[in-house]
Amino acid sequence: MKIAVDGPAGAGKSTIARLVAKQLGLRYVDTGAMYRAVTLVALRQGVDMDDEDALLRVATSMDLNIVFQGQRGNVIYLDGQDVTGLIRQPDVTANVSTVSTHKKVRDFIVALQDQIGRQGSVVMDGRDIGTVVMPDADWKIFLQATVEERARRRQQELQRKGVVVDIKDLQEQIRTRDHLDSTRENSPLRKAEDAIEIDTTSLSISEVVEKVLDLIQGEAETCTRS
Ligand code: DC
Repeated sequence: MKIAVDGPAGAGKSTIARLVAKQLGLRYVDTGAMYRAVTLVALRQGVDMDDEDALLRVATSMDLNIVFQGQRGNVIYLDGQDVTGLIRQPDVTANVSTVSTHKKVRDFIVALQDQIGRQGSVVMDGRDIGTVVMPDADWKIFLQATVEERARRRQQELQRKGVVVDIKDLQEQIRTRDHLDSTRENSPLRKAEDAIEIDTTSLSISEVVEKVLDLIQGEAETCTRS
């Protein structure tokens, strides 16, 4: 079974996708982590975020290893170092949307994702999973939430780490990323025509997981009965 979960930054994709995968006993792949890993290495090497060829060299030469772990989701190793936390740092977040606009970088990363998709059942989350990476997915879920709510969630997440950030700044950052992700030329953030949209603004994590599982399991039951 292949399940694609797409949507804008902060709509709850990775949390929901990880929990749905756990419930269904499937692998979970966080595709944003791959673009974040390229961005982290590019920042470390002082690569210009507009230099497509240099970024492609970073992507093709990095030693990236993604380990699928139930509770933690995906653990990301670069040259043997666990960078799962580092790739979520603000400087990576601020640059990753620019890095992911470059076609050569995307083609390379999408090919990796395609290989993972061919290895069997999976829940994959990202921006272009239902449209480009797994257009043949059995289920396509598109998660939405208002900018205000997504900023509020991000603020809470940062507060838990002891980081205080102004909510207006977070809203602005989210708007900027939405704009870059949805207006880029190469496979922009877009809801696939056959995707089911869920607005998570006023729903809890468990309510969203339940909705997704109801959809999938409800359908499985209908098929068994008919
Ligand atoms: O989901 P995330 O915030 O970790 O994603 C980081 C960035 O990576 C996001 O701003 C756009 C890009 N991305 C993408 O272009 N395609 C994907 N499938 C996943 C992420």
